Amino acid sequence: MKVSLSILTADFANMESSLHDALEITDYVHMDIMDGEFVPNISIGPAFVKAIRKITDKPFDTHLMIMHPQNYIKQFVDAGSQYITFHVEADCDIKKTIDLIKSYGVKAGISIKPKTKVEDILEYLPLVDMVLVMSVEPGFGGQSFMMDSIDKVKALKELKEKNNYSYLINIDGGIKDSTAPLISPYVDLAVSGSYVCNAENPKERIDILHNL
Ligand code: DX5
Ligand code: ZN
Repeated sequence: MKVSLSILTADFANMESSLHDALEITDYVHMDIMDGEFVPNISIGPAFVKAIRKITDKPFDTHLMIMHPQNYIKQFVDAGSQYITFHVEADCDIKKTIDLIKSYGVKAGISIKPKTKVEDILEYLPLVDMVLVMSVEPGFGGQSFMMDSIDKVKALKELKEKNNYSYLINIDGGIKDSTAPLISPYVDLAVSGSYVCNAENPKERIDILHNL
C-alpha cells in the first residue's frame, strides 16, 4: 500500500528536521487545506504548500476542505500540487471544477465525507483521477477510524474493476498499523498523519504501513 503523509499534525516550525527521513520514503505528501467554513478549523494555504515544495520533490496530494474550491485551484497548482481533491459536498459546480483542475494539467480528485454515500458520486467516477474516502469527519487529525468506510473503498474498487475506471482509491483519517490492514486490499494509497508525524521515528511508521 502506498502512503500519503499528512503533515497536519507535524511540527510546522521544524518540518524538515522532524520529517526528513519520512519525506524521503513517503509516496505522496498530503496537504490538508481548511477554510473554517467547510470544516470547523483553519489550516494552511498555498504559501505554506509552496514552502514545503522546497524540502521535498514528492507529489503533493492536496485535499481541499473548503466551501468554494473553484476559486483557489490555480493557487494550489502554482504551489506545486500534482493531485487536487475537493469535496462533493462543497458549494461548486462539480463537473466544472473537475475540468478546471484538469485544465492546468493536474490530476483531479473527489472526496466524500462520512455521511455521503458512494452512490452520490457515481456520475463523477469516470471523470476523476482519485476518489478520497473520509474515514473521519474532516477537520482534525488524530481521530478514530470509522469502520463503515471499509465498505465504501470496497465498493469503489468493484466499480473501478467493473467499469475500467482509472481513479486511484485513497482513504483519509485514523490510518495506522491496526486499521491499515482493513482497507489495504481495496485502496491504492492511504493518508496517514498523526500515526507517522507524532511518532518518535516517523520513517519507521511509514515502513510499517508500506509492508502491511
Ligand atoms: C482530517 C484530514 C486528515 C488528517 C489525517 O480532516 O483530512 O488528512 O490530517 O490525520 P490522521 O491520520 O491523524 O487521522
Ligand atoms: Zn486530508
